Amino acid sequence: MKISGVVSILAAVATAAAQYATPNGTAGPDEDGKYEISSTGIRGSFIPYGASITNLFVKDRNGIERDIVLGFDNASFYSVDPFHPHLGGVPGRYANRIKNSTFNIDGVDYHVTPNENGGRNQLHGGPDGWDYRNFTVVAHTEDSITFSIVDPDGKEGFPGEVISYITYTMTPYTWNLKMVALSTTKKTPIMLSSHVYWNLDAFANPETPTALNHTLYLPYSGQRVGVDNILIPDGTILPNQKYSVNDFWSSPKQIGANLTAPELLGNCGFNCTGYDNCYLVNREQNGPYNWRNDGPVASLSSNFTGIQVDIYTDQEAFQVYSCGGQNGSLPIKSTQGYEGRPRVVEQYGCIVMEVEDWIDAINQPEWQREKKHIFGPEDPAYTLEAAYKFSANLY
Ligand SMILES: *[C@@H]1O[C@H](CO)[C@@H](O)[C@H](O)[C@H]1NC(C)=O
Ligand SMILES: *[C@@H]1O[C@H](CO)[C@@H](O)[C@H](O)[C@H]1NC(C)=O
Ligand SMILES: *[C@@H]1O[C@H](CO)[C@@H](O)[C@H](O)[C@H]1NC(C)=O
Ligand SMILES: *[C@@H]1O[C@H](CO)[C@@H](O)[C@H](O)[C@H]1NC(C)=O
Ligand SMILES: *[C@@H]1O[C@H](CO)[C@@H](O)[C@H](O)[C@H]1NC(C)=O
Ligand SMILES: *[C@@H]1O[C@H](CO)[C@@H](O)[C@H](O)[C@H]1NC(C)=O
Ligand SMILES: *[C@@H]1O[C@H](CO)[C@@H](O)[C@H](O)[C@H]1NC(C)=O
Ligand SMILES: *[C@@H]1O[C@H](CO)[C@@H](O)[C@H](O)[C@H]1NC(C)=O
Ligand SMILES: *[C@@H]1O[C@H](CO)[C@@H](O)[C@H](O)[C@H]1NC(C)=O
Repeated sequence: MKISGVVSILAAVATAAAQYATPNGTAGPDEDGKYEISSTGIRGSFIPYGASITNLFVKDRNGIERDIVLGFDNASFYSVDPFHPHLGGVPGRYANRIKNSTFNIDGVDYHVTPNENGGRNQLHGGPDGWDYRNFTVVAHTEDSITFSIVDPDGKEGFPGEVISYITYTMTPYTWNLKMVALSTTKKTPIMLSSHVYWNLDAFANPETPTALNHTLYLPYSGQRVGVDNILIPDGTILPNQKYSVNDFWSSPKQIGANLTAPELLGNCGFNCTGYDNCYLVNREQNGPYNWRNDGPVASLSSNFTGIQVDIYTDQEAFQVYSCGGQNGSLPIKSTQGYEGRPRVVEQYGCIVMEVEDWIDAINQPEWQREKKHIFGPEDPAYTLEAAYKFSANLY
């Protein structure tokens, strides 16, 4: 990114900050440390920690507002929660896993700080990745918030400084995400995502505290990235054959539809039953597309609330994790739950959906995706855009 590019982005952010439109000009966070933004039919709360979403309210088919994302009741708990499940934040500077915590750029080996599988690999940017840090709020209006982070050269073992802006904007029934990251000094890997945990029933479904009855549709995802038993890509691209457990493309399917199929054991890593997979998004074969209108790349719905989210994005992969690792240790929020049931997230109580690029592509040169993964000061900025559109149906 050339300096003129950096300057124009900074100018755009300054303009947004000048529009900071509240009566006293200092609309800080509420008493829970959260910043709300809203539009017709939607309101969400965000915190500086990881530039995370903490609450997302949309109406169900009966007009009842439901808080459909996981999070905590207050901003301060995010820094002390012992589990840190990457709740609703921006994993960075490199989302998902880096094999052996190692990569090579221009003949130089780099070793980043490991934080998973007994030190074998790095996950989501390391033990002090972006979603363990407080971003700066640089702009906040009624319907939009922008966060920034400066990630220094050498942090978590990554070469070069990265400056990033994360903007969330609400438009009617839609949550829009725009992420920009600039590598200012050296070539470095950058891949961001949004790591939101969903329960479209807000845990209020009397029949189940799980998301196994949520229906998922990935119409462009006939393939997925092959991984070993600690979920590190092995370079292969696998077919999601029709009617196989990973087939969410030939027709919509409930997350739990294949729960007892033997092939589902190990599908999300060693001894894990369920999903934690990077599905590819293959759209080019249909001709030119506009990601804002063509799609969605994913739809998730629940018939209890009738709430459906359709995800539009410019990204070419989509991670789905079915929360097989949850075990009742994570609390739900005061805005969620069903009277008389434990106020925790049970196994399969949620679904994580992450717009992203092909995971660990920095270690798979034969995929030829360097331009989407390695960024230096001369390169265009890294960008990610997505729109999550909500509706409430009866089916
Ligand atoms: C400014 O107003 C907002 C609400 O409009 C309020 O949350 C905030 O606490 C106020 N700040 C000060 C310093 O009075
Ligand atoms: C903050 O939220 C956490 C998790 O929901 C809760 O355990 C804690 O009591 C809350 N603290 C305050 C001060 O509200
Ligand atoms: C982030 O900010 C929160 C709320 O202001 C604060 O409680 C917490 O200690 C900060 N965490 C870090 C890692 O700086
Ligand atoms: C794995 O990482 C270790 C330690 O960082 C390094 O010495 C080794 O060369 C790496 N192995 C591969 C295959 O990259
Ligand atoms: C919910 O999911 C379970 C297990 O996958 C299935 O047996 C049941 O029929 C589903 N219920 C509805 C209402 O779809
Ligand atoms: C998975 O579930 C779908 C929908 O119920 C079914 O058509 C398919 O045969 C199942 N596949 C396996 C491998 O069980
Ligand atoms: C596999 O998981 C089951 C239940 O989730 C557990 O009881 C069992 O001990 C695990 N097996 C191994 C080899 O880790
Ligand atoms: C969806 O929910 C509605 C209203 O509760 C119910 O009438 C309908 O039978 C449900 N459909 C399915 C497929 O479960
Ligand atoms: C539940 O999961 C957490 C984190 O994944 C783990 O630290 C904890 O030991 C588990 N608790 C039980 C009772 O298995």
